[in-house]
Amino acid sequence: MNEFDATLRDGRVVHVRPIAPADEAELLQAFERMSDHARYMRFMHVVREPDLERLRSLLASFPEAGVGVVATVPADDGIDIVGSAIAVVAADPTRCEFAITVASRFAGAGLGSLLMRTLIDEAAGRGLKEMEGFVLTENESMLRLAKYLGFRIESDPDDGTVRTCRLALGAPAPGSGGPPAGGAAAGPTTARGSA
Ligand SMILES: CC(C)(COP(=O)(O)OP(=O)(O)OC[C@H]1O[C@@H](n2cnc3c(N)ncnc32)[C@H](O)[C@@H]1OP(=O)(O)O)[C@@H](O)C(=O)NCCC(=O)NCCS
Repeated sequence: MNEFDATLRDGRVVHVRPIAPADEAELLQAFERMSDHARYMRFMHVVREPDLERLRSLLASFPEAGVGVVATVPADDGIDIVGSAIAVVAADPTRCEFAITVASRFAGAGLGSLLMRTLIDEAAGRGLKEMEGFVLTENESMLRLAKYLGFRIESDPDDGTVRTCRLALGAPAPGSGGPPAGGAAAGPTTARGSA
């Protein structure tokens, strides 16, 4: 994917680019800055410590096993990652599972939407056919975002606390210019538990 700068609804500018193994330290810092509530929304259980091994292996597995994007802003130590979104290729290699985090200080400015649209374009461009995500029923912000982006939202028959969000890839996401061309992806795992 091409890197780009984007201006959010509140006028702040972020830099959007593919996620990279070198982002490990900044992703850990971003995790440290997350509230308990945000961690619960993201991981669907209380997470006190980041799973470094899992994060490292996830980053190393990209781009073969999935796609990921980060939004950064300048910081005293170089950059801060203020948002990240990943789509991990499932056991069925035509499908992927998304997960997203936006820093609370950047919430509500359209960054989640920007990252998801970028992720959707990337996944579609790689030939993936469906994106799905598992979202807590109480996570209204994420469910509104998923609905706005065109995801089909269904109750999980096994768990009333979770909604399944599914999007057929290939059609342009709202507000996007359409998917770029790209190759195929492979490598099964899940996005839920990854930092
Ligand atoms: C959920 C999360 C990603 C949302 O990020 P965000 O940057 O605040 O999202 P956005 O500003 O793009 O969009 C959020 C809102 O705008 C809506 N929206 C965005 N663009 C829109 C548009 N053009 N028109 C109408 N509605 C729009 C969304 O439906 C949503 O509604 P809300 O403001 O009432 O919450 C963020 O809160 C987060 O990281 N939470 C913790 C982790 C998490 O829950 N992850 C999801 C599980 S994987």
